[in-house]
Amino acid sequence: MTAQNGSSEPVFLIFGKSGWIGGLLGELLKQQGAKFEFATARLEDRAAVIADIERVKPTHVLNAAGVTGRPNVDWCEDHKIETIRANVIGTLNLADTCLQKGLHMTNFATGCIFHYDDGKFQQGNGVGFKEEDTPNFTGSYYSKTKAMVEDLLREYPNVLTLRVRMPIVADLVYPRNFITKIIKYDKVIDIPNSMTVLPELLPLAIEMARRKLTGIMNFTNPGAISHNEILGLYKQYVDEEFTWSNFTVEEQAKVIVAPRSNNLLDTTRIEGEFPTLLPIKESLIKYVFEPAAANKEEVKKAVREMRGR
Ligand SMILES: NC(=O)c1ccc[n+]([C@@H]2O[C@H](COP(=O)([O-])OP(=O)(O)OC[C@H]3O[C@@H](n4cnc5c(N)ncnc54)[C@H](OP(=O)(O)O)[C@@H]3O)[C@@H](O)[C@H]2O)c1
Repeated sequence: MTAQNGSSEPVFLIFGKSGWIGGLLGELLKQQGAKFEFATARLEDRAAVIADIERVKPTHVLNAAGVTGRPNVDWCEDHKIETIRANVIGTLNLADTCLQKGLHMTNFATGCIFHYDDGKFQQGNGVGFKEEDTPNFTGSYYSKTKAMVEDLLREYPNVLTLRVRMPIVADLVYPRNFITKIIKYDKVIDIPNSMTVLPELLPLAIEMARRKLTGIMNFTNPGAISHNEILGLYKQYVDEEFTWSNFTVEEQAKVIVAPRSNNLLDTTRIEGEFPTLLPIKESLIKYVFEPAAANKEEVKKAVREMRGR
């Protein structure tokens, strides 16, 4: 593939300007002093996507656009057409346009297309789903469509699909942060999961784009960590009086619409690219809990206010 702008310096075009991950990518590229612009097109509008590409003349496209549902993915159960338009038609449209324009695309996708089973992938046996494994979780419409698109994108030689899971940032009162969610809920399940510590992993996504990696990549820290282990770290590092209670998956099912996936992803591929990538617990301590402990009183106060208890 040849770059459209004829220069060797990468130029990034980011889809998802108003979104969480898109915004973080913009901040990171700014910090790096890299050239980038945000797209203005809706993903499914091919003419507008082409206009963005012709305006910015990128060497790399980063796609962090798509519907994720508000307040959560349950929204997709009642908005199937909107979900298809953005996450299926839109994502494929962007990948296909990038291919025709000779552009590399990094697609922020999801690892919530797998679920522990009663066989090879039992919870706790340490066998994670690999990049080539066939998705086995279609319990939510969001996951179902993401799995379909992932399969179709396998045919695109210009696309890197990053399977994000339960993304985490340092700000413990940011509503989209997985840790914020479990701190806030009245009751949580307690199941080990693969997760994505964004401050460690997002810079690697940009590096993978620069390296023009393609195919599927499990985009999580190595290993899995359970809800209780994370809340235990919060208690240890920030608030020793913090308490919480658990419920079962069956009880959880009564307060959500669509089932949620729980899984372990195999991280051999990403560790091969980045051998110093930290295991999930160490990453959480370094990027979330040590910074929170350094600012303990303020974090504790903000979290207590958020919980209203
Ligand atoms: N956050 C998570 O828990 C999580 C977990 C795993 C994977 N992911 C994946 O990571 C990606 C980014 O997630 P996020 O949390 O940053 O999402 P987000 O905060 O919900 O932002 C989504 C972005 O996509 C844009 N968008 C939606 N439909 C669009 C369309 N048809 N055309 C163009 N832009 C569109 C939104 O813009 P408008 O507001 O203008 O619509 C917004 O900028 C998604 O693909 C998501 O599935 C997220």
